[in-house]
Amino acid sequence: MRRSALLSQVLAVNTLLVVGTVFAASVAARLDLGDSAGLRQFLVLIAAILATLLANNFIMRRRFAPLESLTRTMEAVDLTLPGVRAQASDGESEDISRLRESFNLMLSRLEHERVGSATAVLRAQEAERARVARDLHDEVNQALAAVSLRLAATAEHAPPEFAEELKETQRLANQAMQELLGLARELRPSALDDHGLMPALRTQVRLFGERWGIPAHFAADGPRPLLGEFEQLVVYRVVQEALSNIARHANAKKVKVTVLGCNTAQLKVTITDDGEGFHPNRLRDGRSGLAGMRERALLAGGRLDIRSAPEEGTTVELTVRARGTRLQAAA
Ligand SMILES: Nc1ncnc2c1ncn2[C@@H]1O[C@H](COP(=O)(O)OP(=O)(O)OP(=O)(O)O)[C@@H](O)[C@H]1O
Ligand SMILES: [Mg+2]
Repeated sequence: MRRSALLSQVLAVNTLLVVGTVFAASVAARLDLGDSAGLRQFLVLIAAILATLLANNFIMRRRFAPLESLTRTMEAVDLTLPGVRAQASDGESEDISRLRESFNLMLSRLEHERVGSATAVLRAQEAERARVARDLHDEVNQALAAVSLRLAATAEHAPPEFAEELKETQRLANQAMQELLGLARELRPSALDDHGLMPALRTQVRLFGERWGIPAHFAADGPRPLLGEFEQLVVYRVVQEALSNIARHANAKKVKVTVLGCNTAQLKVTITDDGEGFHPNRLRDGRSGLAGMRERALLAGGRLDIRSAPEEGTTVELTVRARGTRLQAAA
């Protein structure tokens, strides 16, 4: 059974104590309600009880207010939006102050551990993707290339009635190779490892435009951002998901990806489309793309802002900083 709040319990006990004490005192004093003096004393007692209870109520509520405010902060805490801390309130007692400080310490530890474990999961996921992409590229693709070459050689010497069929099979094998390479690139773009973030982003935007027939423009204010490997991967994945959303949901006529701050410790990546837009606050549950982008940005010590409205296009803005520097507050 759910018990009433601590404040109500304390007020109820105090009320019982006051009424009980006054009742005992009036019995001991043999108060006679029959005569007017006795009645007057009784009314004074009732007024004293009421005044005591009101004062008690007022004082207790003030004493319990910091606890109430701490409870509200505890209920509102969301580890995916870190940095929220319980603030000291007026008239906070030593016990509540200790409780608040312990809670804030626990929050810091939880946030720290959450970032650590989520980063480890993300790194493991990326390593696994890289391994699968390498296998697809080096083994499956090589095997398909060998099949294609053999088919070409066989078609050279095959009787005319088979040659056409063999050429068609070779075309299918080449198509499978292209799809496989595309898949491997999505899993882990080798350009990111071989040439760095900017060429990888440029290629990603170009391929997006070619594949979906949407004019896509890429611009950056420098060749190489001052980001670590993990942050670069986060930028790449956020752009990848934003472009995938544009292809699937936006019905856009043009897309722009800009990277600013390449020579500073803070990089701002903006992906803009002129498509149908959406209400960012009215999303159905179970969607993981936008949540994944936010999570990645957070793990890289960055911030993700999504601005969108129906018929007004969408802007996804990722701000990420080089390790060891602090993210500047939003202007
Ligand atoms: N650029 C965009 N233009 C229009 N609508 C968008 C855009 N980006 C996201 N949305 C809307 O936001 C919703 C949530 O996007 P989110 O990426 O989280 O999920 P999803 O793309 O539907 O699925 P997935 O989990 O596979 O990514 C989409 O279903 C879509 O309605
Ligand atoms: Mg998506």
